[in-house]
Amino acid sequence: MATSQQIVIVGGCGHVGLPLGLVLASRSVGMVTLVDIDAAKIESVNRGRMPFMEAGAEELLRKVGGKTLKATSATNCIRTADVVITVVGTPVDEHLNPTVTHLYQNLDALLEQMADDSLLILRSTVYPGVTKLVYDRIRSRGRKIHLAFCPERIAEGKALEELVTLPQIVAAFEPEAQARARRLFLKITASTIDLAPLEAELAKLFTNSWRYLNFAISNQFYMLAESYGLDFDRIRDAVVQDYPRMRSFARAGFAAGPCLLKDTLQLAAFSGNHFFMGHAAMLINEGLPNFILTQMKSKELSQQCVAILGMAFKADSDDNRDSLSYKLKKLLQVEAREVLCSDPYVRDASLIPAEEAIRRADVVVIGAPHSVYRQLRMPPNKVLVDSWGLWRAPDQNSREQPILVGSHRL
Ligand SMILES: NC(=O)c1ccc[n+]([C@@H]2O[C@H](COP(=O)([O-])OP(=O)(O)OC[C@H]3O[C@@H](n4cnc5c(N)ncnc54)[C@H](O)[C@@H]3O)[C@@H](O)[C@H]2O)c1
Repeated sequence: MATSQQIVIVGGCGHVGLPLGLVLASRSVGMVTLVDIDAAKIESVNRGRMPFMEAGAEELLRKVGGKTLKATSATNCIRTADVVITVVGTPVDEHLNPTVTHLYQNLDALLEQMADDSLLILRSTVYPGVTKLVYDRIRSRGRKIHLAFCPERIAEGKALEELVTLPQIVAAFEPEAQARARRLFLKITASTIDLAPLEAELAKLFTNSWRYLNFAISNQFYMLAESYGLDFDRIRDAVVQDYPRMRSFARAGFAAGPCLLKDTLQLAAFSGNHFFMGHAAMLINEGLPNFILTQMKSKELSQQCVAILGMAFKADSDDNRDSLSYKLKKLLQVEAREVLCSDPYVRDASLIPAEEAIRRADVVVIGAPHSVYRQLRMPPNKVLVDSWGLWRAPDQNSREQPILVGSHRL
């Protein structure tokens, strides 16, 4: 394979495609074209502006944009591409079942345009067995397109760091596809791991489900401690202190976003709905907003104004996809006199500044523990619900502290 390649990333302006495109474009692998259907994102990328937050990405975009990287909605570049990487989304449907319809439609269009002897890399998180179905689809059409599955394992916000440090799992049915995919990823990271496609599909789903289950353990312990009027963070901190075996004991807080629940449900479907721990984790994590609401009910909510700080699905992010802060907002809109929402990063016209939300609210809930919130002043007459333990009171007897609910004493 030539060292200067034409690489096309389909879904290239998204959270997975764009960081990968930036890193590839900065490693002299050739020309990277990001194909996307979102005109606003394409325009933003071509103007050198990131369409979403990702540490270090805008700087890199300014270096490679217009040189070795460009974004477009035109798909004719696929015809001359040596490598096509597809990263379009793979959501679950309204029945919480994995859906591959969109992925297949997208793949059919790709296969029609791709040249023989080119390499197709699936990078979306897929339902187990999808790589084999795609492989069969290619062969049944008599096409000689090489196929690999190389799952993405980055966490949003750390993509540039993790793309070049995490080992890349590479899977294919044929040695040539495996070797070509491996060579490509060795341009950006130091090591790759070979697996069979089904193993690689499960490896990705195990990764996300394990994290989701892990967060559910903390959230279950949080609810347990809190329902006895105990401070979860105080207990957790004692457990992990100088005790390496408990390093993976996470803090409590909303476990949400576009991947963890969705991928746990893909594994549940694959198990024939016998993945009991996965479903239990879903009940716990999705139930945390309801638990917080129940905690707050002791405060006569119908007369209270409640502010939610942080509408993103996680800290220091502008991504509000499937954020549980919005679920909490809906629940509160039924129970509270007024609900105010704030987030410094999320684009949502209904949001107001944090200072105003705190000033007007009786009760303040931390939805996402953005680091900047540590600087906020919380007046002592406010009730604070902080399941994340963001504002752990240094001295809980101090009269300067607000009244604390959730991971702190009432
Ligand atoms: N977000 C993460 O942190 C993460 C991490 C690992 C894996 N994944 C997986 O990667 C995949 C993509 O996730 P994402 O977060 O990047 O989604 P995203 O929505 O941010 O990006 C998908 C992009 O694809 C574009 N798109 C949709 N249909 C298209 C089409 N037909 N042609 C061209 N472009 C099209 C969208 O406009 C969007 O820009 C999912 O399978 C997800 O599970 C995500």
